[in-house]
Amino acid sequence: MTVETADRAPVSDTAPERAVIHPRWVRVTHWINAIAVVVMITSGWRIYNAAPLFPFVFPDSITIGGWLAGALDWHFAAMWVFVINGLVYVVLGLVSGRFHHKLLPIRPGDVIADARAALAGRLSHDDLSVYNAVQKLLYLGVILAGVVIVLSGLAIWKPVQLQELTALFGGYEAARYVHFFAMAAIAGFVVLHVVMAFLVPRSLRAMITGR
Ligand code: HEM
Ligand code: HEM
Repeated sequence: MTVETADRAPVSDTAPERAVIHPRWVRVTHWINAIAVVVMITSGWRIYNAAPLFPFVFPDSITIGGWLAGALDWHFAAMWVFVINGLVYVVLGLVSGRFHHKLLPIRPGDVIADARAALAGRLSHDDLSVYNAVQKLLYLGVILAGVVIVLSGLAIWKPVQLQELTALFGGYEAARYVHFFAMAAIAGFVVLHVVMAFLVPRSLRAMITGR
């Protein structure tokens, strides 16, 4: 007989098995999100290029959509995937208690200590089921950035119908800047996150197979 939960090592009288680290719903929503975010960012860059906010544009070769209207099509199509998938992840994360157990509490002292240990190469990744304080902070941060990018996106998509929301951001122009900086935060997170995933390949395997 095999008894397994996400928190406990499996009790097995046959072959020893590793405990489930990431339940299926986390893995499925994580990888759908990864694809949606790449489409949102690369189409967003093409949209940006049509009316840059800063004195630079993104190379066309790393954007999708071909031109402004094509990029907007991609952006609004992937938006549904991003938002619906994100809602599933956030609702299940809240009701299952996963966010509470895995991402909280975050103590500033722990973040500093773990960041130091990480930079010195002394941070243990022996137990993948427990996130260190830096991981907790970054994962919670990127979830909140996801909420901000959706709200600011809605504010610049429907500035007339959702004028209260747009006003909350300080108007259309300000909401555009918020949307852009939320993208920059998410893009920065993804670069660091993917590097870390490949530096600790066991964590990548766990996000694919669950164990
Ligand atoms: C509900 C979700 C979203 C909606 C409704 C939305 C909507 C929009 C709209 C209407 C624009 C055009 C702004 C303009 O005319 O200048 C835009 C631009 C952009 N979006 Fe989104 N977006 C969403 C999510 C995202 C996500 C998840 C990302 C990336 C992670 C993203 C990245 C960008 C970028 C980089 C731009 C170009 C910034 C600019 O020049 O204004 N968006 N978005
Ligand atoms: C190809 C791209 C990606 C790879 C290879 C990747 C890899 C991973 C891995 C290996 C984990 C488990 C890490 C651990 O044990 O700490 C993880 C977790 C996570 N990733 Fe990614 N990821 C990718 C893209 C993304 C993107 C685009 C986002 C969000 C914008 C994201 C957000 C998260 C979050 C929030 C978690 C924690 C999930 C939870 O425990 O509930 N990832 N990712």
